[in-house]
Amino acid sequence: MKKVYVTRAIPEVGIALLEEHGCEVDISSKDGVLTKSELISELQNKSYDAVLSLLTDNVNSEVFDAVPSAKIFANYAVGFNNIDIEEADKRGITVTNTPGVLTDTVAEHTVALMLTITSRTVEGDWFVRAGKFEGWAPMLLLGTDLKGKTLGILGAGRIGQRVAHIASRGLGMNICYFDVKQNEEFEKEYDAVFKASVQDVCKTADVVTVHVPLLDSTKHLINKEMLSVMKNTAYLVNSSRGQVIKESALVEALKNGSIRGAALDVFEDEPKLAPGLTDLKNVVITPHIASATEETRGKMAEIASKNIIDFFDGKTPDNVVKK
Ligand code: DGY
Repeated sequence: MKKVYVTRAIPEVGIALLEEHGCEVDISSKDGVLTKSELISELQNKSYDAVLSLLTDNVNSEVFDAVPSAKIFANYAVGFNNIDIEEADKRGITVTNTPGVLTDTVAEHTVALMLTITSRTVEGDWFVRAGKFEGWAPMLLLGTDLKGKTLGILGAGRIGQRVAHIASRGLGMNICYFDVKQNEEFEKEYDAVFKASVQDVCKTADVVTVHVPLLDSTKHLINKEMLSVMKNTAYLVNSSRGQVIKESALVEALKNGSIRGAALDVFEDEPKLAPGLTDLKNVVITPHIASATEETRGKMAEIASKNIIDFFDGKTPDNVVKK
């Protein structure tokens, strides 16, 4: 019987799938992220054949050493920056992720963030709850229209393209983008304009939205310099990975008005936030929930489990990741 360790409770559908395929499944009983030493000691308990990991697990050589029998780590996320892929490769360990199923959900949350910050929805909510609403007023909480404005997409992969679809077809926004790969089909579909650099997107866009994976080359892609070229009426949205933005520089830019606002689902040192971020009114923050719908989290659980099952059946799982 194959033994699988799941590092935190995930939707039951994924666990059931593993059990239906005859696996013995152990799930961490901690209602929280396992520390490195907790994870290692859990993995040392049995010779597990597979680990279903989360983006909050830092999986590196120490973890691989703790469970040499596990030849597959199935990450319950599309992002896999939490796993040392190079080390896994060296050891012949397969790593998989859960792409595709969360595209629409993350794109919808991204658009929700954009609409929330530009329409000052959260500020309005605070205002009313604080008992400050004394009736309609011509100058109360004026926001920004999106129709006819330019959305700058950094990273036109699956999620970036879906955001472009909703923004262009649904909101009437113009699209410009930067990606390491120029995509002519995408350009034709949405009249999207390719920009030669991140900087060009930042200079042009009224809203910049980030959809790149976290890599050495994308860490702090949005830094003081990029923020300084953005329009002072522009907004920044991030639902990718927090470390793509130098958060202290963003706090500064939001404080001194060099950009108008930001909406963030992810943070540089999650779950901690940069000092000063929560004091700002021109920022909307959500707790890394862009993919958190019942439907999508269920599908992610199914895919992660299916990757493990395929691997056990001697097939190459659909979602193997490489450096
Ligand atoms: C992912 O899958 O990488 C997302 O960040 C999870 O919400």
